[in-house]
Amino acid sequence: MATLVHKRIVLGVTGGIAAYKSADLVRRLRDAGADVRVVMTQAATEFITPLTMQAVSGHPVHLHMLDAEAESGMGHIELARWADVVLVAPASANFIAKLAHGRADDLLSTLCLATEARMAVAPAMNQQMWQNAATQANLIAVHKNSVAVFGPASGSQACGEVGPGRMLEPTELVELTTGLFTSGSLEGLRVVVTAGPTWEAIDPVRGITNRSSGRMGYAVAEAAAEAGANVVLVSGPTMLTDPERMTIVRVSSGREMYAAVHEHISGCDIFVGVAAVCDYRPKKAAAQKLKKHADTMTIELVKNEDILASIAALAEAPFTVGFAAETENVEGYARTKLKEKAVDLIAANDVSAQGSGFESDYNRLLLVDKHGVIELPRQHKTQLARTLIECIAQKYHAKGAAQDSRYAHR
Ligand code: CTP
Repeated sequence: MATLVHKRIVLGVTGGIAAYKSADLVRRLRDAGADVRVVMTQAATEFITPLTMQAVSGHPVHLHMLDAEAESGMGHIELARWADVVLVAPASANFIAKLAHGRADDLLSTLCLATEARMAVAPAMNQQMWQNAATQANLIAVHKNSVAVFGPASGSQACGEVGPGRMLEPTELVELTTGLFTSGSLEGLRVVVTAGPTWEAIDPVRGITNRSSGRMGYAVAEAAAEAGANVVLVSGPTMLTDPERMTIVRVSSGREMYAAVHEHISGCDIFVGVAAVCDYRPKKAAAQKLKKHADTMTIELVKNEDILASIAALAEAPFTVGFAAETENVEGYARTKLKEKAVDLIAANDVSAQGSGFESDYNRLLLVDKHGVIELPRQHKTQLARTLIECIAQKYHAKGAAQDSRYAHR
């Protein structure tokens, strides 16, 4: 079941009497687990005060484009990137018109243009305005732009008229917003994901590791769960909190990771190796802390088993996806890994690029398989993971369909 736990929602409030329901909506979104930031238009502040929205959301409300104080905290572009979903409720006829025409004359409309997050509007207006051909044309344009339209409901209106144009109730909006996160493309499938670094002990206090925050792997596991999969996340040591809705197996070394993955692989449909597994480990870890004596020291290293290649080599191998962290010749090395590890897909990134990769919230990927190359441009890791999971789902289903048709022709 989908939830809004850890989901980041920007709630846009525009001018309309239904704005009084927005405070309740914030509370209900937060009750469902979401982190909510509120952006209000000037007109919205005539109906409900920013102070109320600040109190219920627990964060300062964003009101103006050129607010030096707000921009020094979370500026509008940052807010646009931060969001998993931008929900505008209530959305006035004027705001829908602006959205349809790509206007950017205030903070909320600018943010809507700047975001890559999913978007939804909950229209609220007089029934004549709703039925007006111009509003309906604007809605079609907005819908074409992949903006979900929630409602409106029909009934008696604040203006005394009866008809369509009432904003949906907050509980209904929470349910519909939750639905935005379930693509269903991996419904019922079993997915195993590795994430984070591994720690290869030299002695009880020292070890060898790789640079990896685990964020990309966790985002991939979350995106797979969102798409309906039963997920097992095998994680090396990270500072990240355990995601909801999946089985987490915490390990330390590459050998532990290998064992945990193999323990959970039977019946698995898709394996995604995002972990930065140490290629080598000390041949023998000292039982006690090593003391310094000589000027130089040699530690003999032995190769760790390649987890990804071992999964791809299974008789009943799942659809296998590897990651490649490179500092040069990204596509070339990705192609070599695709062949050498005999995997279905390699997601490669250039870790030398500024502002993406290690310790960053952002990343870009090059997807390389036998069919060609797909470039996923720089995005927040959460969004990028979703796009990656959709690509994996498509390729997984396409491979299954190709195999089925091969059997049918025998
Ligand atoms: N991998 C793995 N087990 C290992 C080493 C790597 O499962 N022992 C997986 C990683 O999770 C990743 C992929 O292999 O999906 C590529 O890892 P990378 O370190 O980039 O490549 P290597 O094969 O180690 O090659 P090199 O270090 O020479 O670039």
